Amino acid sequence: METRALGSSGLEVPVIGMGTWQTFDVHGDAGVAGARRVVDVALAAGTRFFDSSPMYGAAERVLGRTLEGRRGDALVATKLWASTDVEARQQAARALQWFGGHVDLYQVHNLVGWTERLDLLESLRERGALRAIGATHYKPSAFAELCRVMRSGRIGAIQVPYNPRERSVEREILPLAEELGLGVVVMRPLGEGALARRAPSAARLAPLREYGVETWAQALLKWILSDRRCHVAIPATSRPEHMRDNAAAGEPPWLDEDARAYVARLAGE
Ligand SMILES: NC(=O)c1ccc[n+]([C@@H]2O[C@H](COP(=O)([O-])OP(=O)(O)OC[C@H]3O[C@@H](n4cnc5c(N)ncnc54)[C@H](OP(=O)(O)O)[C@@H]3O)[C@@H](O)[C@H]2O)c1
Repeated sequence: METRALGSSGLEVPVIGMGTWQTFDVHGDAGVAGARRVVDVALAAGTRFFDSSPMYGAAERVLGRTLEGRRGDALVATKLWASTDVEARQQAARALQWFGGHVDLYQVHNLVGWTERLDLLESLRERGALRAIGATHYKPSAFAELCRVMRSGRIGAIQVPYNPRERSVEREILPLAEELGLGVVVMRPLGEGALARRAPSAARLAPLREYGVETWAQALLKWILSDRRCHVAIPATSRPEHMRDNAAAGEPPWLDEDARAYVARLAGE
């Protein structure tokens, strides 16, 4: 698995990570056991970057349980999603308990109360409870504000959506991230699954085989990572076989401009 510096955040990340929205919001022993099987495959394949949030129901707690006994093998990215300081402090206390007292990348989810949330994250960093600070948003209408946060000098990474059907970040966000040396975590790499499910025929995928692409999900992930301004894509999955499929996209050769344009055309059909 290729690794990249997550901008100037100080973290070195595998190019394929994993999200937990919906897929890790599971309950009971059977639910946790299923999530653990996905994490087993992820870690074996070198996919050691896991993203979560208090917004994702049980996902943070479940991720913590799947990492019991092997927390040091993983990089954990989670978020504060709180409208008051009290709630934010409670979220951080819970997350630190679930993740062995340490979060690798702590992000402000959807920029909610970002000035105050960054105050808390900076104080946690001073105490050594986290390594890098980030901010996330999924909506192009919030990107102007995200640019203000990026220029504040207070964060080391951003998390934004990017796939062949959602390219708004190409206008301002990716160029600014590159200029400022910020890490870029890519959410929704498979279009919340909708893009992944519309796989072209094997014949249409065949020209991508020389780039190491065997499946449509791999084509979509390589499309993202071939843009060197993106450092880690975090597809979510509930299935070990999909995790294996996704992790296999984390190696060169990367797509050239023609191959990238071809994937974008396939995604638009
Ligand atoms: N969506 C948002 O607005 C948002 C916002 C902030 C952060 N994030 C973060 O970004 C992460 C990723 O985004 P996302 O979960 O919205 O969507 P995504 O990763 O683009 O898509 C996830 C969907 O793709 C399917 N899938 C995964 N691998 C596949 C494969 N190899 N072949 C076919 N289908 C596959 C999964 O189904 P199976 O379970 O069947 O594999 C799942 O339904 C989130 O989990 C979260 O951590 C998302």
